[in-house]
Amino acid sequence: MEPVKVGLLGLGTVGSGVVRVLARNADEIQRRAGRGIRIVRASARDLTRERDCDLGGITLTSQPYEVVDDPEVQIVLELIGGTGLARELVMRAIDNGKHVVTANKALIALHGNEIFARASAQGVTVAFEAAVGGGIPIIKAIREALSGNTIEWLAGIINGTGNFILTEMRDKGRDFEDVLSEAQSLGYAEADPTFDVEGVDAAHKLTILASIAFGIPLQFDRVYTEGITRITREDVGNAAELGYRIKHLGIARRQPEGIELRVHPTLIPERRLLANVDGVMNAVLVRGDAVGPTLYYGPGAGAEPTASAVVADLVDVARDLTVDPNNRVPHLAFQPDALADLPVLPIEEAISAYYLHLRAADRPGVLADITRILGERGISIEAVLQPQPAEEAEDASIVILTAPVRESHMNDAIEAIQRMDAITMPLTKIRVESLK
Ligand code: NDP
Ligand code: HSE
Repeated sequence: MEPVKVGLLGLGTVGSGVVRVLARNADEIQRRAGRGIRIVRASARDLTRERDCDLGGITLTSQPYEVVDDPEVQIVLELIGGTGLARELVMRAIDNGKHVVTANKALIALHGNEIFARASAQGVTVAFEAAVGGGIPIIKAIREALSGNTIEWLAGIINGTGNFILTEMRDKGRDFEDVLSEAQSLGYAEADPTFDVEGVDAAHKLTILASIAFGIPLQFDRVYTEGITRITREDVGNAAELGYRIKHLGIARRQPEGIELRVHPTLIPERRLLANVDGVMNAVLVRGDAVGPTLYYGPGAGAEPTASAVVADLVDVARDLTVDPNNRVPHLAFQPDALADLPVLPIEEAISAYYLHLRAADRPGVLADITRILGERGISIEAVLQPQPAEEAEDASIVILTAPVRESHMNDAIEAIQRMDAITMPLTKIRVESLK
């Protein structure tokens, strides 16, 4: 059988990784797909640049439209990134009747609804396993292997760069900026690394996970997003003393009134598996009503782990080429006309426990006033920690862990605490999840 012909857009970290993996595992891939998979044409901006792969037998161009318009190409592999040119190229490929494989979570989170509608109308597939969790087959697991379940919630470490930074800062006391530049040189970070550290990349991924878990349209603009830039060493140390670790989590949870969608730093008990996912590794915990909790773990970024997911998509699409388009796995797991219009809840309606860190004048009655404010709003205290003050300090540090409460109630309490004369610095609030 003739090999399937692929047109590759982008020869950067992931593109080069895909070329290497397809070449190295060509025999295994052919045995699985039933035919070979061959890249026939590839584009990059700078054709004079040295690439970390063998480009022999591939026609190169600096004009990406030549790839998507090439009649020989059956599958377009988009590995450029971004939502401008990438969107135009993907739409053009679909209009040309070509299948698409992409690792671009920003593109899927922002324009997926439009892209999938166009692809369905054209009878082509758009596959995006590498868009979430790097090499972890998390899309396939939720979309296909858990399709007998009602998904109750999922929580994951879904940005490799952010987890790498937090781990290196905690274990080696390294500087934020220093670790970020290492993540960039290792090819983990996005072209704009603020997407990694401000939580935007994780929000793109959570948008996709929530959609395939709950059967709702992609709604990136409804995700509450906080990054890791404001986490201090002091908070990491306080969390450890209380038996917790701070991880940057994406959480999607079904509530009776709608869906919680949030990305933020989170204290989790240190005995949980998720608390021990370190470095560039990612993990996603998914709870289904039938199966219970399931955990998916693996490298969240990097050339070959991501290529592993991309090549799996190429194999799937190669197998699907002869399948009736109406019998393929739906892009967002549920049939397009069966998507639910469950509301995404505002963050004020989310329910979480909290870590509060405040500094207050070191005098009698202050702690009593704080606990009264919390008590009046029905907020129970689970633990209080008063770290040893520095000798020269004029105020005291107070750390409080609360029981779960609605965010709006907590915000109201925080406003009241901040108004106290004794409070000397803005209070730090970090959400706490037991992940039971
Ligand atoms: P890179 O920046 O390493 O590679 C991008 C490639 O696209 C380069 O070859 C570049 O050409 C080419 N390119 C960029 N802009 C243009 C343009 N205007 N016209 C033509 N070609 C262009 O990115 P990555 O490989 O890291 O990421 C690719 C995609 O994969 C992104 O969507 C990213 O979010 C996603 N992803 C990345 C992961 C990772 O670990 N890196 C993991 C999972 C997903 P040139 O080389 O000449 O500059
Ligand atoms: N920049 C992303 C990360 C790449 O660090 O997780 C993988 O999606």
